[in-house]
Amino acid sequence: MSVERFRALVVEEDSGRRSVEIRDVPLSALPEGEVLVRVAYSTLNFKDGLAITGKGKVLRVNPMAPGIDFSGTVVESASPDYKPGDEVILTGWGVGERHWGGFSQYNRVPAEWLVPLPTGLSLRQAMTIGTAGFTAMLCVLALERFGMQPGEREVVVTGASGGVGSTAVALLAKAGYTVVASTGRPHEAEYLREIGASDIIDRAVFTAPGKPLDRERWGGAIDTVGGATLGGLFRSMAYNTAVAACGNAGGIEFTTSVFPFILRNVALLGVESVMVPPAPRRAAWERMARDLSGEALDRMTEVIPLAALPEYAERITNASVRGRVVVDVNA
Ligand SMILES: NC(=O)c1ccc[n+]([C@@H]2O[C@H](COP(=O)([O-])OP(=O)(O)OC[C@H]3O[C@@H](n4cnc5c(N)ncnc54)[C@H](OP(=O)(O)O)[C@@H]3O)[C@@H](O)[C@H]2O)c1
Repeated sequence: MSVERFRALVVEEDSGRRSVEIRDVPLSALPEGEVLVRVAYSTLNFKDGLAITGKGKVLRVNPMAPGIDFSGTVVESASPDYKPGDEVILTGWGVGERHWGGFSQYNRVPAEWLVPLPTGLSLRQAMTIGTAGFTAMLCVLALERFGMQPGEREVVVTGASGGVGSTAVALLAKAGYTVVASTGRPHEAEYLREIGASDIIDRAVFTAPGKPLDRERWGGAIDTVGGATLGGLFRSMAYNTAVAACGNAGGIEFTTSVFPFILRNVALLGVESVMVPPAPRRAAWERMARDLSGEALDRMTEVIPLAALPEYAERITNASVRGRVVVDVNA
């Protein structure tokens, strides 16, 4: 064992009072698990923003380190699948919600939750991808399973400047699609074009009142926003296309008419990233290692120390974080 104590960002609620601070934590405080990992990087996801600010009920254990993903190096392993020195990634499985999270220099987890770091990615790049990028990949895979292929029609990504949205834009562009980025931040247009968008559309287009059906435009859609945006998207989906929906940054309820479904054969594909079984999880990571260039990943990354998390948590819940925020837990 390399250390007895380590640093973590800990959220504690005590008699209605909430504290968020960096603490020195004994290794014995970590949950049971087969693999002890020295964490290198984590990331800030929308859900982590809710957990740190308390704007959403995310944390189910008190006190708790938030952080729904991490990358790092195995220190000890009781599993034949991993040995000390192996580099690994973890996203989902309730880490940072029901299980000690990634904003911590060490973590202990079951072996099957881990994915070996694919060749071609660094530990830092893996966290630029993180849960957000993994979810974007799952959306692309869901659309491809439905039958979407690069063609004449454009594919739209909503919440495009955010973490899931940015990675979705880069992945779709790499796969040969013409990608339109929907955003509420026109000043991010240049960034969105740099990562692969061919065109930018104001997100108000989707939430403005309109007819139940509009001109058929989109050959596919990835929606990270939910709410009225998701409802509005259906109006202009082309015949026999699908929307992959994964987010609720703009709301949890939406309305649409049935016309896109019964007149245009449009499908709604739900995407969740937490409980994806190990085999498809590894396949998605291999694809991302192949399709996301280091340059594109670096362009969408900002690296912050643990101490900056409270400020950035506030920002991500106010939609003012661009791309991916990687957390260097040892800085
Ligand atoms: N299903 C899953 O397993 C899964 C996994 C990861 C994330 N998610 C969800 O996916 C969503 C995106 O996550 P993220 O980490 O990418 O968050 P993020 O970085 O905050 O991105 C969300 C983006 O949505 C847009 N947006 C925010 N508030 C909005 C509003 N009120 N109306 C319209 N657009 C709004 C903004 O993009 P623009 O400024 O460009 O418009 C923002 O950057 C979240 O809801 C998250 O919970 C789900």
